[in-house]
Amino acid sequence: MEQQDRKNTTEYVIQSTREYLDSIFVEERLIDSGVPSLEMELFGETFSSPIMTPAFSHMKNCAPGQQDGMIEYSKAMKELNQVNWIGMGENDEFERVAQTGARTVKIVKPYADRAKIFDQIAFAEAHGALAVGIDIDHSFSNDGRYDVVVGEKMTGQSSQDIAELVRSTKLPFIVKGVLSVSDAEKCADCGVAGIVVSHHHGRMPYAIPPLMVLPDIAEAVGGSMKIFVDCCMDTGSDAFKALALGADAVCVGRAMMPALQQDGCKGVVDYVTKMNDELRMMMAFTGFRKTTEIEDSVLWMKS
Ligand SMILES: Cc1cc2nc3c(=O)[nH]c(=O)nc-3n(C[C@H](O)[C@H](O)[C@H](O)COP(=O)(O)O)c2cc1C
Repeated sequence: MEQQDRKNTTEYVIQSTREYLDSIFVEERLIDSGVPSLEMELFGETFSSPIMTPAFSHMKNCAPGQQDGMIEYSKAMKELNQVNWIGMGENDEFERVAQTGARTVKIVKPYADRAKIFDQIAFAEAHGALAVGIDIDHSFSNDGRYDVVVGEKMTGQSSQDIAELVRSTKLPFIVKGVLSVSDAEKCADCGVAGIVVSHHHGRMPYAIPPLMVLPDIAEAVGGSMKIFVDCCMDTGSDAFKALALGADAVCVGRAMMPALQQDGCKGVVDYVTKMNDELRMMMAFTGFRKTTEIEDSVLWMKS
């Protein structure tokens, strides 16, 4: 496939994901409503909102004055008391992120060097991670062979591989990049504590919008694990729709990048605060007092 074709299919997936989100309308239920709380419980801890950062990486110079973007967004999540995520990176980077005090989920890449996966999981556990996990949607490249990411070889993950990773740590284990009931059920069988429903910014052509498959996944495994969603979770309204369709929390990714690049930690605090405010507004207008109460009977799909 030519580079341009690949770019177009990615753009198509992103566009369809955005269009699907925007095709969902919300009814109002104002009588008996009040000011809602965004508080959420996750893995035994209490956080101020179910809006989180995503498993990002390679953002060293992505904040003003050559500041480290990973550290800046981690500081923002510490300030907000919201959950922080990081993706690919070496142990020393995780250590610097942990030192910000942000409660952080570390998502390890599916390295072909399996010892590196175990090493990063153990390091994150020893350095206070909230949870650890692996992304399964970077195993394969555009040609269907195993991927090479920033010079590092990746490989596929079998159910047995995932079950072994779950057993290797005392921390909750999360699988990122689930986009089917089939994979969600395999994760449940492996004893994972959570999944991220995601197409990883359109890695596969024609990937289904995460919210289209979310209700089926939630019905299949929702009681047994936490469900996180990313991909185009750009506003508080997007987060509201995801929570209504069965997510426990959402991760905002590329949408917060301009704020990070322009104002570092402050930019992310402001962006996420705006999302929190909009989520609270959606809940107030629909009569839900707690994020766990939000359900899909308020949603209307454009026909
Ligand atoms: C700069 C950048 C780096 C990323 N690094 C990782 C990574 O290391 N591991 C991972 O699982 N996902 C990674 N992702 C994917 C995001 O976690 C997320 O799945 C994706 O951006 C879709 O969410 P969004 O539409 O909110 O951006 C990265 C995305 C971006 C833009």
